Amino acid sequence: MTQELTSPTRARQAPAPDRGPQWWRDAVIYQVYVRSFADSDGDGIGDLRGVRRRLPYLKSLGVDAVWLTPFYASPQADGGYDVADYRAVDPLFGSLQDADDLIRTAHEAGLRVIVDIVPNHTSDRHPWFMDPDLARERYVFRPGKGARGELPPNDWESVFGGPAWTRTDRGDWYLHLFAPEQPDLDWDNPEVHAEFAAIMRFWLDLGVDGFRIDVAHGMVKAPGLPDIGRGRQATLIGTQALPFFDQDGVHAIHRSWRRLLDSYPGDRIGVAEAWAPTAARLALYVRPDELHQAFNFQFLNAPWDAAPLRDVIDDSLAATASVGAPTTWVLSNHDVVRHTTRLGGGLDRARAATLLMLALPGSAYLYQGEELGLPEVTDLPDEVRQDPAFFRGGRPTGAAGPGTDTETAPDGLAGASGQDGFRDGCRVPLPWSGERPPYGFGAGGSWLPQPADWDALTVEAQTGDPASTLELYRTALRLRRELPGLGDGRMSWRPAPEGVLAFARSGVLCTVNTLGRTAELPLPGRVLLSSAPVPVTGSTALLPGDSCTWWAI
Ligand code: GLC
Ligand code: MG
Repeated sequence: MTQELTSPTRARQAPAPDRGPQWWRDAVIYQVYVRSFADSDGDGIGDLRGVRRRLPYLKSLGVDAVWLTPFYASPQADGGYDVADYRAVDPLFGSLQDADDLIRTAHEAGLRVIVDIVPNHTSDRHPWFMDPDLARERYVFRPGKGARGELPPNDWESVFGGPAWTRTDRGDWYLHLFAPEQPDLDWDNPEVHAEFAAIMRFWLDLGVDGFRIDVAHGMVKAPGLPDIGRGRQATLIGTQALPFFDQDGVHAIHRSWRRLLDSYPGDRIGVAEAWAPTAARLALYVRPDELHQAFNFQFLNAPWDAAPLRDVIDDSLAATASVGAPTTWVLSNHDVVRHTTRLGGGLDRARAATLLMLALPGSAYLYQGEELGLPEVTDLPDEVRQDPAFFRGGRPTGAAGPGTDTETAPDGLAGASGQDGFRDGCRVPLPWSGERPPYGFGAGGSWLPQPADWDALTVEAQTGDPASTLELYRTALRLRRELPGLGDGRMSWRPAPEGVLAFARSGVLCTVNTLGRTAELPLPGRVLLSSAPVPVTGSTALLPGDSCTWWAI
């Protein structure tokens, strides 16, 4: 039976899973990068039907919700973050019916669905931008400088490299904080506000449980679009001094979206992809009348070292507590080097970092494939790359945050692991089964080549093996559900030797050895779960280097 999609009715939807009103406070949310998750039609590109078929896998993993990266009609100049029609599904990924089916089936399985919304910019193929009159009103156009207007209006640089301005053949310039194919909208225009509210209603009516808001810190620019000063942008990008990020004006927009979300039943949420210079600035996005969550990139960027990790955790908890919001934790996403590689300690360290994250109070975001322990793919040939930053020299890219800090990130990252800082290496399609590429991803290859040694990392190969990373994730997520002390709530630090972190949740102690060698600890209790086997001699636990253990206390 086919159903009319133009006017979806809430009655027809499977109701969203009920895990209490504030389900999001400690939800584990799994990021599906649609293009690379599962391909149903053999074109080598993951799609919505592929995701739907694999929902049982996500259910068995034990996550609460799925966040889908953009699947809207798009020329794909930036992996779909260049949207030409916010109410249409790109044929690459399926149809609106497929989206509807996916949301419904997910709800039936007890999984919530969050979709991406991209309000800072559209595609240059969006009908508004294609119409010169509309474009001038709804995007950021300025005359150029110089005698004939031949110079950009100011010195801002694109996150992907090169100037943030492109001149049209009509002679004026438009702003694009990202690729030239992603013109920035003018949020001073009320029609822009109205349109995004309508787009959100469209997806909320279709049943989505919330939005991940792309570049949530970018929509408002400082009045007069002031120059930054030549060469200063790269050093300032992690601070609040930039005139195009984290301007106070963005908060009024988030407040209006909160009202919209609250007007729907079922605890729909907004999560901000906001890069703010401090945890305190980030907390402003999750004040009670703003969004529900914000990604904690401070945690993602923390080095694997006990003292700074502890500082970041304290800072994050204090900042969000000051506004009554839960903290979120994230280690990997589609913009950064996978944490198996980024932390510089291979799988041992990645597994330990994950158990640390999942023991902390609040909500956690997982990025597809981390549960398989996938490393960053660092040897992609140039001819298969798609990251626009690669072609514009904006190394490294990432989400306009520290990952884009050309002063610090590339050296720190490249030094640790030899990765190149571009984003295709974390977007290689998932290995599901079998001995050879595309490892069950689909019937027709994969849009980026998969390494020849991923046969040992497939879902099939890891399922049922208690030593596998997949089973570690499954057990951790199951314990998070079963043990009342984990998830939302409090934690308190406990004494631990140098290089080791120990904190208690109700009934659970979490120990993390960040050192590269064994650390000794008085035996705290019974092991619930550990990223590596923990030998015990007498009343002493020998915590292996780069390990994390959950103890029943
Ligand atoms: C966000 C996305 C990133 C994209 C950028 C521009 O940072 O996560 O993938 O390139 O926004 O939309
Ligand atoms: Mg496909």
